[in-house]
Amino acid sequence: MSGDVRAIRGFNDILPPSSGHWQMVEHIAADILGRAGYGEIRLPLVESTSLFARSIGASTDIVEKEMYTFEDRNGDSLSLRPEGTASCVRAGISHGLFNGSQQRLWYRGPMFRHERPQKGRYRQFHQIGAEAFGIAGADIEAELIALSAELWRRLGLDRVTLKINSLGSVEDRARYREALVDYLKKHEQDLDEDSRRRLSQNPMRILDSKAEQTQAILQNAPHITDYLDENNTSHFAELCRRLDALGIEYEKDPFLVRGLDYYTGTVFEWVTDALGAQDAVCSGGRYDGLVEQLGGRATPAIGWALGMERLILLAEACDRLPESGAPHVYFVTLGLEAECEAMVLAQQLRSQVPSLRLVLNMGSGSLKAQLRRADKARAGVALIMGDAELEQHRVTVKFLREKRDQQALDWGDLKEFLRVRVAE
Ligand code: HAM
Repeated sequence: MSGDVRAIRGFNDILPPSSGHWQMVEHIAADILGRAGYGEIRLPLVESTSLFARSIGASTDIVEKEMYTFEDRNGDSLSLRPEGTASCVRAGISHGLFNGSQQRLWYRGPMFRHERPQKGRYRQFHQIGAEAFGIAGADIEAELIALSAELWRRLGLDRVTLKINSLGSVEDRARYREALVDYLKKHEQDLDEDSRRRLSQNPMRILDSKAEQTQAILQNAPHITDYLDENNTSHFAELCRRLDALGIEYEKDPFLVRGLDYYTGTVFEWVTDALGAQDAVCSGGRYDGLVEQLGGRATPAIGWALGMERLILLAEACDRLPESGAPHVYFVTLGLEAECEAMVLAQQLRSQVPSLRLVLNMGSGSLKAQLRRADKARAGVALIMGDAELEQHRVTVKFLREKRDQQALDWGDLKEFLRVRVAE
């Protein structure tokens, strides 16, 4: 067979050592969320197309233009999931998770959207998401935001800003929409084409417009926060108070709207200046109507999802990713007898010394060739075992990254020697 085998545009391979950075982020996120009482939920990659149309919204860009939708062999319309919230709600309803109790869940994995690929925007991308159900107050909003902030702290990221807004209730939004349309109609001829079209369909999405002339008009547009009823006003104020108490800085952005229809009340986004146009690293908000809308009992809900690719790019831009994965030890072996013994020793050492990364030479080779492989693997030390060492139950330790004379070590002393090196 001939011809190229290439990945599809917008679909990426994640190779080592970058995959090590992914593991690190996932590990820290799982630790932070798990210790705060969030349980991991594993969800299918494929759902009925109607689930997304009914939750994200039939006239959103995601559902209208970006889903990977296909008919399966039964003639059912299925879609690769473009996000995780809808599936999480579907699963919660079908397993009775929301009946009267609070639920805190998190998930991770690939999502699919047929967007135009560019830096930070892909067709298969990965999210880590957290969702909390059955809690109506600003307390859970502050908790979820604090958990994301903790993740940035643990990763050492500083180029992120939190933006918050409230979309209020259905009634608040109806009143606001009217005022916004009134205002924008006066400037209709100056709006960009997309925004003119949205004026009748979904005027609040105009707030999101990147077009310069529209942005200029928006400068004097009414703010949603002036149209909230008393309850939603004090709810939003309470969230701000809680964020102040946590020492989390935020920017109130009255034009922050989201591209998914299910949001109500508080919405937020962590943005960065490090990634160009694709600046949202983590986004979310409240969606108090969704569980009921999908057939469950009325259940308040809120969550966020972060984009892994963007987070990794940001961590790289902040120069905060550790060199991960280089082995502490490369085991050089000369001759079959030594190879057999080294394999036993390697297994023992890996189980005796937690976190030890030890690579065993494979495919024999001269001492020089094996040391070249050790160097290429960026190993810290080479343990060398040939006939002489085998006879004396010793190894020769050659330091590959330090100016130190090589030394001989008894097998019995290896464990302690490596423990100290791993701890360094
Ligand atoms: P979203 O804003 O559509 O919200 O996506 C969340 C995050 O996923 C974004 O902030 C971004 O970092 C990342 N992301 C989105 N699209 C792409 C893409 N094409 N390529 C790379 N990264 C991308 C949601 O998905 C909601 N389900 C979040 C949520 C959870 N709201 C409540 N709970």
